[in-house]
Amino acid sequence: MPVDLFNTKFEQLYKKPAEALASAPGRVNLIGEFTDYNNGFVLPCALEFTTRILFRKRDDNQVIVHSLHYPGECDKFSIDDEISRGDSQWGNYIRAVAYVLKRQGHLLSGVDLLIDSTVPQGSGLSSSAALEVAVGGVFNHLCQLNLSGEEIALLGQEAENDFMNCQCGIMDQLVSANGQKGQALLIDCQSLTTESVAIPEDLSIVIVNSNYPRKLVDSEYNQRRIDCEQAAKKMSIATLRDADIKKLNAARSAMSDNEYKRAHHVITENSRVIKATQALKNNDMPKLRELMTASHQSLRDDFEVTVPETDGLVDICQEALGDEGAVRMTGGGFGGAIVCLCRHSDIDKIKSAVEKHYFSRFNIQASIYVGKAGDGLQVTVL
Ligand code: GLA
Repeated sequence: MPVDLFNTKFEQLYKKPAEALASAPGRVNLIGEFTDYNNGFVLPCALEFTTRILFRKRDDNQVIVHSLHYPGECDKFSIDDEISRGDSQWGNYIRAVAYVLKRQGHLLSGVDLLIDSTVPQGSGLSSSAALEVAVGGVFNHLCQLNLSGEEIALLGQEAENDFMNCQCGIMDQLVSANGQKGQALLIDCQSLTTESVAIPEDLSIVIVNSNYPRKLVDSEYNQRRIDCEQAAKKMSIATLRDADIKKLNAARSAMSDNEYKRAHHVITENSRVIKATQALKNNDMPKLRELMTASHQSLRDDFEVTVPETDGLVDICQEALGDEGAVRMTGGGFGGAIVCLCRHSDIDKIKSAVEKHYFSRFNIQASIYVGKAGDGLQVTVL
């Protein structure tokens, strides 16, 4: 919704104009999947799809939340009371961030909020991280908390881990907080140091959402994390960041098949991220293709987080692009989206191949977005 209309809506709801706007993006991960919570490397970029929140400080301690996507629904809670989960699934993300801020001892105040978002939901493009980071931006500004982007990201991750019960890593929140226009972000998830890597001018990022309904995602996701932690334990190391194939094979007999395969994925994926970062800097499509193909296969066979729909989409798009593109699933898996890197002139090849083959094979329509690397969290006073 255009900013003017968004402001008018706020004023209609709350009878006063908004004071400021917080905006945080979704992300697409180019490579480095399920490595973040193993203290490894990831290479995502923030997108131009954002979650925007208009807000105004209240005189009391109530937090009132409306969303343009759920007209007629409203979530309300008091920051004076113990913050627990409410009936609104999306409202719970606001509660989650308030909960972790309060737990850290920050003094919060009441606020009126109105949310709008262009981040596609349920597609593995981090609509929830965008919401958490935007809410972090709201309270940071409102209560003058002086938090850095990294601190806001860590709070968002804690909100997921301790309030929403998803044991995610730091990738989504950190790139949503600190992403930069035109750049991918190489993140070392152990030290949280980052390096911006320019996306070559002639490279397009095409995201194809399988629209396959994601089910039981959190329990499967959390189980993968447990498998990885068990594998690290059996190698007597703190996290899989410190593993290599030699250590893995030496401990193989102590591991279940799943533990072995999960660890194998993480070890090989970490090395692919480093190589892919170099390939992106060199605008080296054949190398990117080799690494992204290997990443997808590893996610399919070792980490087992793909579904026939995302495998099929990867095949359809890779075949359409031939040597001229690199394709893999992206994000938390079990459905969701795939990402293709290609030249601008080849975007139409993806569109027509998906149109021609995907629905007829899987009976679902895919959605295609041409993604641009956008900026991270911004808060603007109106
Ligand atoms: C989700 C999580 C991230 C990361 C990815 C997989 O997006 O939120 O922390 O683990 O899955 O790479």
